[in-house]
Amino acid sequence: MALTETQVISAQEDGAIDQAVELLIAGKLVAVPTETVYGLAADALNIVAVQHIFEVKGRPANNPLICHVCDVGMAKRYVDVTETAHTLMQHFWPGPLTFVLPKRAEAGIPDAVSAGLGTLAVRCPANKVVRALIKKLDRPIAAPSANPSGKLSPTSAGDVAEGLSGKIALILDGGATNVGIESTIIGVQKDKITLLRPGTITADEISECCGLEVFDRDDETITAPGQLKSHYAPNAPVRLNATEPHGDEVLIGFGRVKGAFSLSPTGDLEEAARTLFATLRAADEMGRKSIAVAPIPSSGIGIAINDRLTRAAAPRSH
Ligand code: TXA
Ligand code: MG
Repeated sequence: MALTETQVISAQEDGAIDQAVELLIAGKLVAVPTETVYGLAADALNIVAVQHIFEVKGRPANNPLICHVCDVGMAKRYVDVTETAHTLMQHFWPGPLTFVLPKRAEAGIPDAVSAGLGTLAVRCPANKVVRALIKKLDRPIAAPSANPSGKLSPTSAGDVAEGLSGKIALILDGGATNVGIESTIIGVQKDKITLLRPGTITADEISECCGLEVFDRDDETITAPGQLKSHYAPNAPVRLNATEPHGDEVLIGFGRVKGAFSLSPTGDLEEAARTLFATLRAADEMGRKSIAVAPIPSSGIGIAINDRLTRAAAPRSH
């Protein structure tokens, strides 16, 4: 792949968003901040740019991308928004909740975006920079997390540069992300809701908002091919539910379990989600034989944190 010079500019700089929009219109890739993790954005209607995302990330072509929109109106151009989905969008958007809905065939989203599926994932991010950018572009951006496939998701512009510098046109620096883990993903079919990826918006909150049960994904039929077992992996192997380090291990603590790092000394799950990926990176940089992580309660946001940790600890296929 040809090397590109990657510019990093502050999102606050005058004209920064205009410059990003121009690059997107020209078919280039731009890393953008969202409230969850940084995204690697392309004009969702430009098939060449979309294919470039898969190339740059080393992402399997069967792993579909999320289209980021600036409001419910824009989502309706590309997917059939069911009544239940509409209720949930009104309540949770803008915010870290992604909907997988029937794709409108006439809407012009290239098949590559949704990996040939009949559905399309849509999300309206809460971050002001990326919302302003989508509004100005007046079309959705396709954006997976801005990291090489299988590696830790980026929560700062520096993290993006580490993985993708020399491969993309621009990184818009909007500071550290404040949610820290990727959006909750739900599939909505008429009146059935399926949790495809847990996040900081929990199944209970979704259920409470629309009065419907949220079903767990049936692992036998992987509808989100991206939900591969090994993902979010640091270089060192990861051991979970550790209360003390073994040998050369570096321990990441939580609450009362103290380590070289802590996801949250007070045992706050929101803080743990926000610091998770940056802490795994920092622990990895110590170059120890392995990384041990303290137990995280499996309730509320802890479900999403444990999901990411389990994948980080899974046997590697690469
Ligand atoms: O918070 C987020 O969602 C971040 C930021 C950048 O917005 N994005 C993100 O994208 O996490 P990515 O590509 O890393 O993860 C998207 C997930 C993948 O697991 C993919 O398989 C799933 O969404 N997905 C996308 N479209 C789908 C579809 N039509 N059906 C089922 N799963 C889908
Ligand atoms: Mg990702």
